[in-house]
Amino acid sequence: MNVSAPLDFNGDPPLGDKYARIAADVARQGWSVQDGFLDGESTAALKIEALRLRESGAYRRAGVGRGETMQVRPELRRDHIAWLDGMDENDATLHYLRELEILRQVLNGSLFLGLFDFEGHLAEYPPGAFYRRHLDQHHDSDGRVLSCVLYLNRDWTPGDGGELRLYLPDEGGQRDIAPRAGTLVCFLSSVFEHEVLPTHMSRHSFAGWFRRRAL
Ligand code: OGA
Ligand code: MN
Repeated sequence: MNVSAPLDFNGDPPLGDKYARIAADVARQGWSVQDGFLDGESTAALKIEALRLRESGAYRRAGVGRGETMQVRPELRRDHIAWLDGMDENDATLHYLRELEILRQVLNGSLFLGLFDFEGHLAEYPPGAFYRRHLDQHHDSDGRVLSCVLYLNRDWTPGDGGELRLYLPDEGGQRDIAPRAGTLVCFLSSVFEHEVLPTHMSRHSFAGWFRRRAL
């Protein structure tokens, strides 16, 4: 699936409130949480696609770093992932990418972030898995500007674990976000450290990054 070229979009982006709300949140505080960003039906379709790919053996153990320095480090992260650019085209993913494309255009139009393309992967955290505190921007800077994670877990309850813990540098506090189906979390990749707390259930998500042209 080609994700490096901007998706086709005819005309002006529709002015859905959810996109404007994310833009306003990011402008004000650098992060945003939108419950129901993706509707139930579309989220369920994406989950079916994720399960199909997982069962077909398309997921690999995730590593840290990139390119030649990428290493599998189970003490740091234990999720399994399938990158978007290795996936076959499918309607559920295309629908979500179209949503992200509208978001990209709204963010560029209002915040002048210069978001240029998007990279992403499906992820499964098996029971017991976590991702220790980290920053999404690589040390050698790959142009990641905004991290966006969509969750695919219906019927998530507080005892299930797997919350995203976002560290808020200004307030010196933290915020735990439940990985509930349809919720989208966005945050500035160079600013917010975060971690995935140990999950007790199999936890599915679609994590991705809007990038600017890297030098
Ligand atoms: C990541 C990540 C957060 C989440 O993939 O880099 O931090 O909630 N994911 O899945
Ligand atoms: Mn991360």
